[in-house]
Amino acid sequence: MKKNKTINSTDSIDSIKPIDSINSIDSINSISSNIFPISHKINRIDREKIKKQKSCVLWFTGLSGSGKSTIANELEKRLNEMGYHTYLLDGDNIRTGLNSDLGFSDSDRKENIRRIAEVVKLFVDAGLITITAFISPFRKDREMARNIIGEEDFIEVFVDTPLEECIKRDPKGLYKKALRGEIKDFTGIDSPYERPEKPIIHIYGIKKIEKNITQLLSFLKNKKIVG
Ligand code: ADX
Repeated sequence: MKKNKTINSTDSIDSIKPIDSINSIDSINSISSNIFPISHKINRIDREKIKKQKSCVLWFTGLSGSGKSTIANELEKRLNEMGYHTYLLDGDNIRTGLNSDLGFSDSDRKENIRRIAEVVKLFVDAGLITITAFISPFRKDREMARNIIGEEDFIEVFVDTPLEECIKRDPKGLYKKALRGEIKDFTGIDSPYERPEKPIIHIYGIKKIEKNITQLLSFLKNKKIVG
């Protein structure tokens, strides 16, 4: 695999050559060669500075119906009211656009997460507090996302809600369909959900939303991501 070299404005033309290999993430295959990424004059720190915030991603993971989107939405609203620049990427929305060609096989879920992680990497570079709400059921796929985005910017948030509670809530009627066998590969029913072993933030989805928001905001304040 040909990997490419980043060009700095100080590089002479002679020094600009694609390099054949660097230590890259195994799961990513680049088929393009002779590509010369350029390092821009304005970088992430410059962008963060004018926003008075530190960018990162809060990567919500949990079962369908666990409360990921609801909590992520409320968190974004609160951060926006506090004057922070955020962006929320959500499973059902992304799957109607960027990832509308993907289904729910293990390999499609992996590609779903890979594309989202690449988008998140750009948003973090843009200086945004990025929030994602995807089931992201497989540990190795979340690991891939962490590798793409970078360990220090990746905050895994586990929305831990018992499956029985998610089935009871069933806001979209999907568990009912899955239990009747009308949807295949449904997470928690006939496709596994691998719980995070050491999430950075552990949210209990049966708690009141206000309690969860307080937990998230105090984490962000402690880490000086917001003031
Ligand atoms: S992920 O597993 O690939 O991370 P993602 O978060 O993008 O999933 O999408 C999950 C949403 O798709 C669910 O909230 C649900 O509304 C819908 N959905 C449709 N089919 C399935 C399925 N087989 N398993 C899980 N969710 C499904």
